[in-house]
Amino acid sequence: MDKDFTRRQFMGRIWWGLAGLLALETGGGFALSLWPQFKSGGFGGKIKIGTLEEVKDMPVGTVTYVREARAYLSRVESGFLALYRKCTHLGCVVPWAADDPSEDDLAAKGRFNCPCHSSIFDRFGLVQGGPAPRPLDIFLINIEDGVLTVDTSTPIQRSGFDESQVTGI
Ligand code: FES
Repeated sequence: MDKDFTRRQFMGRIWWGLAGLLALETGGGFALSLWPQFKSGGFGGKIKIGTLEEVKDMPVGTVTYVREARAYLSRVESGFLALYRKCTHLGCVVPWAADDPSEDDLAAKGRFNCPCHSSIFDRFGLVQGGPAPRPLDIFLINIEDGVLTVDTSTPIQRSGFDESQVTGI
């Protein structure tokens, strides 16, 4: 070692090197956190539901849970809705109660009953009772090359139902 290169200088360089690494890691993590997150295959990304062939004969009134999407696929007259399972009151998971009396005209039985404070939602996700302040949020459904996917990146809030929320097939 150069006799002019003292132990103090050596330790100083080590310290600055570590500080530089730390700055890079912190800055890199921050930059990555700003990068849009496009996950696929898991919640927060695009979840495959099935092919048009698989869903086209699903009877009106059918409600199917898509676990990966944390959502229900609700077959209404003009197509499909993807209803987020999270209650709009305080966020409890809302189960589908297939044998309870229906709150809509699509079938005689079936509705969503929130177990926390008893909000009730129909097949359109509309509030039919309890403290929930708005309908269940929905996710966009896309059809590409004959395959349906649910985009779970952004739950969409709504104040009611209209046909623009339905994905036709
Ligand atoms: Fe669903 Fe309160 S969290 S009714």
